[in-house]
Order: sequence, then C-alpha cells, then structure tokens
Amino acid sequence: MTHAAALENFRLSLGGRDVLPLMLGGMGTNISTAELALAVERLGGIGHLSDAMLMDLSDRLFGTRFTSEKAHRTAPERDNMDKSAVKFDLEAVKAAARRYVSDVMARASGKGMVFINCMEKLTMNAGLDTLKARLTAALDGGIDGITLSAGLHLSSMKLMAEHERFRDAMIGIIVSSSRALNLFLKKSASTGRLPDYVVVEGPLAGGHLGFGMDWANFSLPTIVKDVKAFLEKNGLSIPVIAAGGIFTGGDAARVMEETKCEGIQAATRFAATVESGLPYAVKQAYFNARPEDIIVNHLSPTGYPMRMLKQSPAITGEIRPNCEAYGYLLNHGECSYLKEWKARKDAADAGAAPEAMPAHEKCCLCTYMRNYKVWTCGTSAARLHETSVKRENGEWILPTAEDVFKDYMQSTGDQILLPAEARAYLAASHAAPAARPDLLRTEAASSHSAAGA
Ligand SMILES: Cc1cc2nc3c(=O)[nH]c(=O)nc-3n(C[C@H](O)[C@H](O)[C@H](O)COP(=O)(O)O)c2cc1C
Repeated sequence: MTHAAALENFRLSLGGRDVLPLMLGGMGTNISTAELALAVERLGGIGHLSDAMLMDLSDRLFGTRFTSEKAHRTAPERDNMDKSAVKFDLEAVKAAARRYVSDVMARASGKGMVFINCMEKLTMNAGLDTLKARLTAALDGGIDGITLSAGLHLSSMKLMAEHERFRDAMIGIIVSSSRALNLFLKKSASTGRLPDYVVVEGPLAGGHLGFGMDWANFSLPTIVKDVKAFLEKNGLSIPVIAAGGIFTGGDAARVMEETKCEGIQAATRFAATVESGLPYAVKQAYFNARPEDIIVNHLSPTGYPMRMLKQSPAITGEIRPNCEAYGYLLNHGECSYLKEWKARKDAADAGAAPEAMPAHEKCCLCTYMRNYKVWTCGTSAARLHETSVKRENGEWILPTAEDVFKDYMQSTGDQILLPAEARAYLAASHAAPAARPDLLRTEAASSHSAAGA
C-alpha cells in the first residue's frame, strides 16, 4: 500500500529557520564524520558530528600529538590500577574541539545545520570539568547546535550558561522517556532556557540504549506520543524528533503523521554509506547482517546496554587497557573493564583454572571504538541488504549519503530508492535482477520514484 506523504513535504522549524526534518544521528567515534555530516547539511538537513575521543581524532586529522603527549605525561601510572592521576589537560581538550568544529563549520553551506553529539557518559576522569570544556569549545568553534546524549548530565545547561552563544546556539537532548525529560527540565530550569528540541530515542536504535534488557517491551511511537502529551500538558512548545528503527521514507512519514512529531533522526543507514568513517569491510559486514546477528549486550563499561553485530571483534577481544593514552571512560580513576582485566590478570598470574577465571563481560571501549571494532547498529541493519545491490564479486555497492538522504525524503509507502550506482549496475547487468528477485520490487519502486523526482 502506498502512503501518500513523503518526508520532503514536511519542515522542521528550529531557531527561526526551516530545515528538512531529517537529522543524521551522531555516531562516535568518528563514524558520523565531517564529510557525512556536511553532506546532510548541504542537502538541507541536520548533520551530527560526534565529540567522542576528539583528541585522538584531531591527531589523526590534523597531525596534533594530544594522545601521545597525554600518554607520555601519565606513563608513570601505567602499572597503577587506580587511575585517579590520569587526567586530561583541559586546555588541550578545548583546543582539539575548537579546531575540529571550526574546520567543519568553515565548510558548511548554510543550507542545513551541523550539530555535535556530546555523549556525556564519557566522564574523562573529571566529569564536569571535561564536559564543560567540550561543550564550551564546541560553541567557540561555531557549531550550530549541541545534542546532549547518553548519560545526560542534569546540569549540562548550567555548564554552558555563561557562554556568549548559550542563547543563540541550538541545544537539544536525547531521552527515552517523558520521565527523563521531566527531570532534565526541572534541573535546568534555573538557567531560564529550555532545550530547543528533544530527540526521543526508541528501543530499536543503534549505539547505547536508554532502556534495560527489557527494551523489547517499549515502542517508539508510544514514547513519542507520551513525550508530546507531556510537553502539551506543561504548555511547552518544543519540537520532538523521533529516532530508532525508522528505516524508509515511508516509515518516516508514518511516524510523523502518527505521532505528530516534528522530525526524525536516522543513523544505521548512514553508517554504511561511502562517507561514514567505518572501514569498507565493516560496511560490507553491516550489509550482510541478518536478524540473528544483531544482539544487545552489556559489553560497554558505561553500564548502558549496547546493540551491535555479534561478529564485532570487541566481543571476544581482550587487551591491556590503555587509559594513559585514552581513558575517556575513567570515573574517579576507575573503569569496569579495567577492573575486570586486572581481576583476570591476577587470576591468570596465580595459575587459576579456566573455570575459576573471573568472567570476561566488558570490553575496552576506548580502544575498540577508536579502531572500529565495536560494530554498533540499529535493529534495521538486518534490512540494509534491501537498500542496495551486491555485485557479482560478492561486494555490496555502498550508497552515498545523498542516496540515503533522498530515499528518506522522497520514497513513500514501502518503496526504497536504490543508490544511483546500484541502479546503473542493474541496468548494465541482466543477470542481477533475475538472480535477486527481491530486488525487482525495490528497483521497480525506485525507477518509479526517480521518474517522479
Ligand atoms: C554506528 C552507530 C553509532 C552511534 N553512536 C552514537 C553516539 O555516539 N551517541 C549517541 O547519542 N547516539 C549514537 N548512536 C545512535 C544514533 O545517533 C541514532 O539516534 C539511532 O541509531 C537512530 O536509529 P537508527 O540507527 O535505527 O536509524 C549511534 C548509532 C549507530 C548506528
């Protein structure tokens, strides 16, 4: 059944500007790259950068030496399991964020907006100080907006309140319930500033989940409607963005109409695009994902459940923690992976039998995220194969950010607009459609969509 509305018929009004109602979700560490966020911005939507491990990213992008300098300075703590003395240099934290953000903003077209996702659970061994440094430096760098996410700190607004851009930059929060939103609003009321938007992330999203292991009992439309009702009851007019499992343009339009939300946020489909920071082979693994490959576990030391492919190398890998160089999850000198690693090492050194070894339940998230070995994804990764074409050599044609963006904007009902390169490949190859009857539907749909575009 074809649904009449397409996402491109809606507009999201933020800070007096109208943009297309599609946000690219922030994906750390450097999965939502500058190139990905800017591609979405240039198409008139909102692209998210991520501020996770920015010092390391700065080293890779600009040749700075923040990570090696920190590792060198804190090297004496290497054998000390209490990492309280492994501190970030706050000036360096600010310098890295300012440079990265200003470099990206200088390349923005002004057609859409570029926001940064600030994952507050990165406590960086001095939660409030490092958070304040990250937030204010992003504002210094000229970011259009900041989205406060995982581990939402109730006083984040206060940390930015003195900044000259506090009232004109967009500031939003990610919640998974009206209760969390209520708490945040109460706590930040003294700043006299409301969030400019609220992203409601449902249980099917990628990354860390704002639910327990009973996530399957919740539904995105129900939570969005609940948040909308809460805002209305309190006389608050704040745009609500729905996120998690919105896979097609038809899904997006349906959720907009059903819940009356003002926009949607999507990530998984963009994670597998040409512009995403994931290595090529990992993008291929996403395209090959089947429903049974997608699991939710407690591997992350943040304490939040995380969804990932069960083939993620981080699940079985066990490495010496590298808190001196990274240490983004340290909190008062501790991290649950560090604790587990020490307990297992002590047991192994004492000659413990395998069955007496402490369980291996956590991973070194810093090192593994940095090396793209945590393959986090939304449940819809299992449907990525519907969105492109596999070449005869077995490799998937990767969509560009523009391909995915246009599909979200223009497709209706159950249509999926195939990437331009995939359509060209199918046109040139007579064997492929016959060999892949499941693609005939989408190909037919895409020609129809493209013709009408
Ligand atoms: C690879 C990947 C990494 C993510 N990383 C983050 C993150 O660093 N911070 C965050 O708030 N959300 C993160 N998310 C969640 C997304 O921003 C987004 O809200 C959600 O995945 C949307 O659902 P979808 O993936 O089904 O489209 C991540 C999602 C994916 C797929």
